[in-house]
Amino acid sequence: MKIAILSNGPGNYTTKRLKEEAKKRGHEVKVIKYKDAYTAVESNNNTVRYKGENLERFDAIIPRIAQSYTKYGTAIVRQFEAQGTFTTASSLAINRSRDKLRAYQVLAKAGVGIPKTVFARESASFEDIVNLAGGTPLIIKVARGTHGNGVVLAETPKAAKAVMQAFYVEGVNFLVQEFVKESAGTDIRALVVGGRVVASVKRQSLDGDFRSNTHQGGEGVAVKLTEVERKTAVKAAKAMGLPICGVDMMRSERGPLVLEVNSSASIKTPELITNRNVAEKIIEYIEQNAKRRPKKDKIGA
Ligand SMILES: Nc1ncnc2c1ncn2[C@@H]1O[C@H](COP(=O)(O)OP(=O)(O)O)[C@@H](O)[C@H]1O
Ligand SMILES: [Mg+2]
Repeated sequence: MKIAILSNGPGNYTTKRLKEEAKKRGHEVKVIKYKDAYTAVESNNNTVRYKGENLERFDAIIPRIAQSYTKYGTAIVRQFEAQGTFTTASSLAINRSRDKLRAYQVLAKAGVGIPKTVFARESASFEDIVNLAGGTPLIIKVARGTHGNGVVLAETPKAAKAVMQAFYVEGVNFLVQEFVKESAGTDIRALVVGGRVVASVKRQSLDGDFRSNTHQGGEGVAVKLTEVERKTAVKAAKAMGLPICGVDMMRSERGPLVLEVNSSASIKTPELITNRNVAEKIIEYIEQNAKRRPKKDKIGA
């Protein structure tokens, strides 16, 4: 098969591993820096241009779209979709997962456990917002944050109000969330490929931060998921329409609570820590599914 990896970082661990495994299995692979790809939008012409030439047709694409390039990257993915090219993540699903408000609504509707979450815009009903989120300490996070940037822990109502007001004046959409104390500083990342969890790691912050993102200095350790956690991860992936993704969960007294579903999860820590060959699983998934007609997205959000 001809496979394209859409990645602005050809040297990234995940990109390199996907390329390596695809080649090993006899496929032709090309890494495309989607930020340099462009296209003439005209009827009956869905070509994608790259370095002054039309790109050939691919059997499958693997979008690895960075948060900061969501709009542009998904527009390029859409262009490939218009050609009928198989994609491991649809442009619709990537966009859905990047908006936290929308993602939580979709997860809640599917019956996936999430922390108590409140969306608000004005501070007029401030006390009610704090109560709905379970009182302080509480978490306030911007709708489009990533790597732990944009997630704030407010210890007191005063601090919470000040943070919310700061976001209001800047016009930033945010959500207010119950602080899951039981697992402060840790979370679980389950990598799902084709409806199965293929690797899972527990991430913990090393410096006492409540955020466990490895970008915030968190460290990954292998973890064995409970049956409920496994099912939750698979259900969250399905709800979001992402057959290949990283599901972040927190362990709480009322079971696993999903924090987010990542459409371009890194496979680095999971592969290095668990010794599982995740890249191979992804290529196998493509081999098994690329020939089928893409399923229609029926999530409706
Ligand atoms: N409600 C919460 N309770 C406790 N810790 C949280 C909560 N939400 C987020 N965190 C911590 O902050 C980290 C980043 O939050 P997350 O929602 O995943 O945002 P990002 O997209 O920036 O990674 C999580 O991995 C977790 O460690
Ligand atoms: Mg996260």
